[in-house]
Amino acid sequence: MHRICLLPGDGIGPEMISCALRVLRALPIGWDFIEGRIGYAEYRRSGSPLPEETVRKIRGCEAALFGAVTTPPDIPDYFSPVVRMRRALDLFANLRPCRSIRHPSSRPGIDLVIVRENTEGLYSGIERLEDHGRRAVSERVITRGASERIVRKAFELAGQSGRRTVHVVHKANVLRQTCGLFRSVAFEIAKDYPGITLLEMLVDTCAMELVRAPQQFEVIVTTNLFGDILSDEACMLVGGLGLAASGNIGAEAAVFEPVHGSAPSLVGTARANPAATILASAMMLDYLGEPRQAGAIRRAVESCLESGRTTPDLGGELTTDQMTRAILAALEMDLERK
Ligand code: NAI
Ligand code: MG
Repeated sequence: MHRICLLPGDGIGPEMISCALRVLRALPIGWDFIEGRIGYAEYRRSGSPLPEETVRKIRGCEAALFGAVTTPPDIPDYFSPVVRMRRALDLFANLRPCRSIRHPSSRPGIDLVIVRENTEGLYSGIERLEDHGRRAVSERVITRGASERIVRKAFELAGQSGRRTVHVVHKANVLRQTCGLFRSVAFEIAKDYPGITLLEMLVDTCAMELVRAPQQFEVIVTTNLFGDILSDEACMLVGGLGLAASGNIGAEAAVFEPVHGSAPSLVGTARANPAATILASAMMLDYLGEPRQAGAIRRAVESCLESGRTTPDLGGELTTDQMTRAILAALEMDLERK
């Protein structure tokens, strides 16, 4: 029995979560689902996009599955509940796997994971206006402690998945103190993992190399903003936002989510691809120690992609509900075979 907190959020989030829930319930596993409130609709209801009660609920569960939230840029006292949640629960590692699929939208031979520091850097939230609003300042905080644990996470993940290299991605030639610290910590930690080679790359070069020759990367470890940008870029190599899933992992909590946002223009159109959230729940199953169930979900999604049974973003003609049913049908066949 696994106790899971569902966080539907706004926009297409609730619809995506309900699709993933149908898939999770089809597995031969006991579930105890509770629901937490998050997002813009919750802000209008209660005055906070992330009530304390939601953070407590996530803490009380083994893991959480999050849909998406709308973050309006023009409300002065608003804050991003996603960034706040990651910090409140100390979800220090953001993992974004990118793996080739047999589908025309994907390039071949790619199997990489981006390991992004998730609690500090340019998203530390220390910003101010100076000089009567004519100067805006953001502080980029990098600490030795947070750098050490994210680099360790990258090496552990490389070791567990049989990978031989880790790239530390930075801009230490310009950001000499902040990226300088991150880079030197990476080289120190690397000494503890003699079987894995640490390579380094400047972030702009990495953005280019991801387009030119993405097959060279196995694990990329980097700071918060760089990881955010590179992981959106990388997911476009292997099918795009309709398929991209991620996990936010801490020592005591974990939240899994699709990479995409609330896609307001897709609400009510039945065109949103449910696979990203379904694949996020497969990542959650791996975390819960259920790798066989995770594998069954991935095979079911892959068989739909290979046969073109997809929503329009991947060139198919299915609705959200039809694609979910196709995944469920493939999953049931897979489970019967076992
Ligand atoms: P978005 O990810 O919502 O949409 C980007 C593009 O991808 C749009 O063309 C959209 O139609 C498409 N798309 C997204 N999900 C899809 C799916 N499941 N199937 C097919 N196509 C899909 O990003 P956008 O438009 O920049 O932001 C919309 C809202 O989402 C904003 O309020 C933003 O703040 C929020 N957002 C929230 C995130 C989160 O909750 N983790 C992450 C990114 C954005
Ligand atoms: Mg992003």
